[in-house]
Amino acid sequence: MAPLLVGGQPLIDIRAVRKSYFSGSVETPVLHGIDLQVPRGDFLAVMGQSGSGKSTLMNILGCLDLATDGSYLLNGVDVRSLSRAELAVIRNRTIGFVFQSFNLIKRMSVAENVALPLIYAGVSRGKAQAKALAELEKVGLKELAKRTPSQLSGGQQQRVAIARALVADPPLLLADEPTGNLDTQTSVDIMRSLQRLNEETGITILLVTHEPDVAAYARRLVRVSDGRVLYDGPAAPGLEQLAASHAQQMLAAS
Ligand SMILES: Nc1ncnc2c1ncn2[C@@H]1O[C@H](COP(=O)(O)OP(=O)(O)OP(=O)(O)O)[C@@H](O)[C@H]1O
Ligand SMILES: [Mg+2]
Repeated sequence: MAPLLVGGQPLIDIRAVRKSYFSGSVETPVLHGIDLQVPRGDFLAVMGQSGSGKSTLMNILGCLDLATDGSYLLNGVDVRSLSRAELAVIRNRTIGFVFQSFNLIKRMSVAENVALPLIYAGVSRGKAQAKALAELEKVGLKELAKRTPSQLSGGQQQRVAIARALVADPPLLLADEPTGNLDTQTSVDIMRSLQRLNEETGITILLVTHEPDVAAYARRLVRVSDGRVLYDGPAAPGLEQLAASHAQQMLAAS
């Protein structure tokens, strides 16, 4: 298998990615040719209307689904060349996932939830438990390690999900509307944590959000409309960049 780190290349490199869903012989095209290069250490927010294809794109980036057409190099590796088993290994080593609905396992303790990716990776129970507690400490929840998810607030559950996503030290964090179920103050806390994490560890973060206030924590913004990238630039652009992007859109529409 290819080495985990390949110098110089972007961590994510997708070209002309198309995605259709099929129901029998009926094809529904959703992504119409997406290009995206994400260097290591980037912090990128994806915005766009409901149904524009954001989750579809994230699922492809996370190797949970395959593109119908186009290329995807993850860490320099062509994901299409991999078997399902190889893909699962690359996914476990490279990507941490966070979802809107936390997706924690109800009957397991907080610590067991966080340790799970390490257990899957074959790490011994003792080591996994110790690393899980260290990860929970980073998100300020070590004292709650023995509780079950239902005994936590929404914000605390999302912190547990973040600890679980990070426990195997992946270079990439993918988050689909991580603050979608949280109130404003809790969203701010979560975004500050992600921002600090990105600055301190250099982890690459891609997140989907509907909230401009949430997107503002990112460095870069990608706006998707009807399966196409409409804007790709600074999350808080200067007037000059906004004007250039507006001019580009006018040209594209003409
Ligand atoms: N598994 C699927 N089978 C068929 N169609 C799907 C499937 N998943 C998504 N779609 C369709 O693809 C389009 C894009 O869906 P997607 O979930 O990517 O949108 P989104 O931008 O994430 O929207 P939201 O903001 O509501 O989460 C929608 O029209 C949706 O109905
Ligand atoms: Mg979605």
